[in-house]
Amino acid sequence: MAPAQLTLRRPDDWHVHLRDGAMLQAVAPATARQFGRAIVMPNLSPPITTAAEGAAYRQRILAALPDPPAGMAPFTPLITAYLTDTIDPAELARGFAEGVFTACKLYPAHATTNSAAGVSNIAAITPVLETLERIGMPLLIHGEVTDASVDIFDREAVFIEQHLLPLLQRHPGLKVVLEHITTADAVDVVRSGPANLAATITPHHLHINRNALFQGGLRPDFYCLPVAKRELHRLALCAAATSGNPKFFLGTDSAPHARSAKESACGCAGIYNAPHAMESYATVFERHGALDKLEAFASEFGPRFYGLPLNDGQITLVHEPQLIPMRLHANDAAGQGVNLVPFHAGETLPWRLA
Ligand code: DOR
Ligand code: ZN
Repeated sequence: MAPAQLTLRRPDDWHVHLRDGAMLQAVAPATARQFGRAIVMPNLSPPITTAAEGAAYRQRILAALPDPPAGMAPFTPLITAYLTDTIDPAELARGFAEGVFTACKLYPAHATTNSAAGVSNIAAITPVLETLERIGMPLLIHGEVTDASVDIFDREAVFIEQHLLPLLQRHPGLKVVLEHITTADAVDVVRSGPANLAATITPHHLHINRNALFQGGLRPDFYCLPVAKRELHRLALCAAATSGNPKFFLGTDSAPHARSAKESACGCAGIYNAPHAMESYATVFERHGALDKLEAFASEFGPRFYGLPLNDGQITLVHEPQLIPMRLHANDAAGQGVNLVPFHAGETLPWRLA
C-alpha cells in the first residue's frame, strides 16, 4: 500500500534543457517548482562556450523565474559549458573556478538538437579532458555515435565500446556522467565501472519503450534522443533507478520544443516532462515497490557525485490522481505564446506535487 503522501528532501534535476527567450520564460518556472537546482544544458544557438556567456545565461534564467513561495530557498541553475573542437581549456578552468560552470557537456557533433558545433573527434580534445580531470570538473556525455551506418537503436551501445571505455582508460580520474542512459548495456557498464562514472535516468525512458513511437500512428511526442529502446532495456533502467545504487540518479532531460516543431515532417527530438517530473518518477518507483528509494535517487546521489551539499527544504507528493493536460500554453513577458505537449498528456498519474 502506498502512503497517502510522501515527503522528500527537495530534489535536483541533473540534466535539463531550459532554452532561451520566450521558451525559457515558458518552461523555467516548471523546473523551479519541482527542483532545488538543475544542471542546465548549454545547447543554445549559439552554444554556451565562455564563462561570460554562462554568467549571462544564468541571469536570464533567474530573471524568468517567479519569486519562490515563502520559506523556500530560490532555485539555483547550474550552468554547463559546451565542448567544441576548438574550445579553450583555460576558459573552462576559469569558468569553473569562478563558479559559473559546474560541468562540461560533450555532444558528439550532429548527435542531436543544436549539436553541429559539438566534438567531431573525442581523442583530439585530450588536452581539454586532461584539464577537466586535473581540476575535478565533471564531464557530461551524450553517449551516441553519429555514424549513419550504425543502426539508431545501437548507437549508445556502440558509443560505449568505441568511445566511453577508451576515454575512461585515458582519463582514470575524470568524473563522467553518462547522460540519459537507455540501454541495459549502459546500466552494466556504469554499475561495474569505476566510482567516478555515474549515469542519469529520465522519466520517459523508465515509462516507455520504442513501441510508444508507433502506438496507433506516428507519435512525435515520444521521440527523443537517445531514442527509447526495447522493453528489456526499459526494465534494466527501472531496476537500476530503483536499486539504491548511488551511481544512478535523476536527470529529466526535459527538452521542450514548440508543438509545431514536434508535429512536423521532420519533428524535433525531445520530451517535455518538467511540469510533472517528480510525479512521473514516483509512479515508476511505486510500481516497483521502491518508494523508499526515491529520495536518494532524486535528492542525494546527484549532489554526492557532484560534491555539492544536499538541499535543505522538502517537497511533498500527495497520492491523489492527477490528469495531465493534453496541451500547455504559456506566454512570455511580451505576450508571445508557446504551445507545448507535456509527457503523459491525457494520462492520469497517481501522484500530485503539493
Ligand atoms: O531528445 C533530445 N532533445 N535529446 C537531446 O540530446 C537534446 C534534446 C534537445 O535539446 O532538444
Ligand atoms: Zn539533454
